Parts: sequence; structure tokens; C-alpha cells
Amino acid sequence: MNIVVLTGAGVSAESGIPTFRGPDGVWENHRIEDVASPEAFLRDPDFVHGFYNARRAALHGVAPNAAHFALAALERAWEGRGDFLLVTQNVDDLHERAGSRRLLHMHGELRQMLCAACGARHPWLTEADTATSCPACGETGLRPDVVWFGEIPYHMEPILAALDRADVFCAIGTSGVVYPAAGFAAQARRNGRGCILYEINPAPTGERYFDHVIAAPAGEGVPEFLRRLGV
Ligand code: APR
Repeated sequence: MNIVVLTGAGVSAESGIPTFRGPDGVWENHRIEDVASPEAFLRDPDFVHGFYNARRAALHGVAPNAAHFALAALERAWEGRGDFLLVTQNVDDLHERAGSRRLLHMHGELRQMLCAACGARHPWLTEADTATSCPACGETGLRPDVVWFGEIPYHMEPILAALDRADVFCAIGTSGVVYPAAGFAAQARRNGRGCILYEINPAPTGERYFDHVIAAPAGEGVPEFLRRLGV
């Protein structure tokens, strides 16, 4: 039995990382067009770097919560029982820090920098600005390795292949309003395998695709999901 799990900002909410669209969400305090688009970076790269520098610095003060640890435990428990893939829309590193390995960041990672000049990617734990040079080619022009609105998410080929083979799909802590992630549930539903769909969200989206809705915070809902899988 193959499992695909999709997480959104809600899985990190109990760790203290704000969601995007909830009360006091990230997009309540910043305009997407000012900080999360290629045009924004072209217009004012240091302002955009400042937005991501602050979110990267905040990672030092947060830790994985029970949901992150439960997903890492599910991955280990599923060894030999079928495929397991965790797809996250999040750019934080809490899934890795909780022990997840079969993990794809479809929107990139805060703790990585991408060189627009040579294409090199570098682990990055500190700040960056337009004067910061690429450790590989020495050019300036580094950008956060985060997928902005209007850009193509990463790892779509393996994600779509996993959805086509999924027998269980679980969406955790996502409002389901940003594509292509918002279309993953429908894709799993029609993959011809009778895929069973779960949603874990204290404010369920009401999407009709979900067979089971666990209307709880991820810290409670994910352990309940594991119990229902018999893990
Ligand atoms: N546990 C589970 N879910 C929660 C919790 C919690 N403790 N707290 C809030 N949620 C839910 C909210 O009900 C909401 O449905 O998490 C969801 C967060 O939704 P968004 O803020 O829209 O975050 P997300 O769905 O990840 O956004 C998708 O939009 O802005 C872009 O690139 C950004 O990756 C992001 C994408």
C-alpha cells in the first residue's frame, strides 16, 4: 500500500511558525507581490532578501512538533510495506529535523541559496543580500532557493508519479488554494487505485474528495492518522 502525504503551513503552526492565510498570517503582514515573485526580486532584491533573512533566522527559535515526529515515524514504519512520500509546500526544515528522509520540498527551502549566475545551490543558515557572492562562481546575484508565485514548483515529475501510485493520500495543514498542490487530492482520487483520501485540519477545507476528515490540529490529528493506518 503506497502513501503520499502533503503538508502545508498548518503542520508547522504548533511549532510557532505562522501560516500564510490564518489570523496574523504572513500575507496579513506582507504583500505577495512585494516579497514572493520574480518581479519583486527584480524590483527590490534587498527587500526580498530581508523578508527571507527574517524567516530563516526565525528557524533557530522553533522546533519540530508532534506532527513532524509522527510523520517521520510513519515513514520508518512503512519501510517494506509500500512506498512512502512526504511532499511539503513548506520551506522550513522541521520535517528534516524530525527525521523525515523521503521528503520533497516543492516550494524550495529557506536554508538554501540559489545562484542565478551559475545555478549552484548552497546550504545557507545566515543572511544574504545583493552584495553576497556565490561560493562557487564568486558572482553576486544569489536568491533564496524558494519557488515564487509564477514559477514552476520543484520535483513535479516524481510527485505526480507518486500520486498515480497512491493508495492513501493525506493533506495536512493546507488551505488547498494554491496550485498545483491544491490539485493533488483530485489527482489521487482519480488514479484508478481506489485511493483513500484523508484531510487533517482544524478548519477543514470542505473539499468533497476527502473520505476521512480529522478536524484537529496536526499535533493531535497526525498521531490519530497513524492509529487509523494501524501504525
Ligand atoms: N494543524 C493543522 N492545520 C492547521 C493548524 C494546525 N495546528 N493551524 C492552522 N491550520 C490550517 C489552516 O486551517 C489552513 O487551512 O493550515 C492551513 C494553512 O493554510 P495556508 O496559510 O494557506 O498555508 P498553505 O496551504 O501551506 O499555503 C500554500 O501558499 O503562500 C503560498 O507558498 C505559500 O506554500 C504556501 C502556499
